[in-house]
Amino acid sequence: MMPRVVAAEVLDGLPQDDPGAIRSRRDLRRVHRAMGTRKIILRALKGMKLARLEVEPLRVLEIGAGDGSLMLGVAQELDSAWPKVALTLLDRQALVTPATVAKYQAVGWTVATDVGDVLDWAARDADMPPNEPPRWDLVVANLFLHHFEGAQLARLVQAIALKSDRLLACEPRRDWLALTGSHLTGLIGANAVTREDAVLSVHAGFNGNELSALWPAFGERWRIQERAAGLFSHCFCAERLGAGV
Ligand SMILES: C[S@@+](CC[C@H](N)C(=O)[O-])C[C@H]1O[C@@H](n2cnc3c(N)ncnc32)[C@H](O)[C@@H]1O
Repeated sequence: MMPRVVAAEVLDGLPQDDPGAIRSRRDLRRVHRAMGTRKIILRALKGMKLARLEVEPLRVLEIGAGDGSLMLGVAQELDSAWPKVALTLLDRQALVTPATVAKYQAVGWTVATDVGDVLDWAARDADMPPNEPPRWDLVVANLFLHHFEGAQLARLVQAIALKSDRLLACEPRRDWLALTGSHLTGLIGANAVTREDAVLSVHAGFNGNELSALWPAFGERWRIQERAAGLFSHCFCAERLGAGV
């Protein structure tokens, strides 16, 4: 198996109004189309046990959410049987536009933004006892966990398990097919930033049961699934058994 190598991505080092960064974030939407990310997320969400439905909105946090456009596509495709959602989009950069917020509202989701570092979010209430009621029904991470390694990744995953009943992560798969695909993003018109970051992302991606191995059970029972998804993705899903939604 390819060794996991995490390196700083170019986009993360650019100011949010840098023309190369703006273009690269637009490229990301095409990359998601090529990866089939929306379909993968929809399938995973529909497989979750969420019975609360109309009682209260589902509290969902997306970490490293970027401009929020990926989850917007998901929200627009979920049918009316899906619960209403109170979504918080957390990212280090303030990228969510009022137009995007309005589109979420049009499908009945409310949106809040949290601009800050996810590691600060993880450190907040880190001393919370493991069995306290979690604040989130679901945490979502798309092309995000692969930015972290070692103690930081472990701390982040631990904070999610403490603060949420569920995690759905859709990350780059670290294998030869995905690596080949990452070298071909120029074919879908990706700029130099995206082309370089795509390759770095695959090297930092996940394989096998790497995320399951990090998941802290805290003495509770979880349903864990970790698998290859689509041609290039690696999907991890954890659900606390008996979560009261
Ligand atoms: C590859 S983009 C993915 C965006 C979005 N999830 C998607 O799939 O389209 C990674 C995002 O993570 C954000 N990010 C990177 N490091 C972060 C950190 N430590 N805390 C919060 N956000 C971070 C970046 O600003 C960027 O928007």
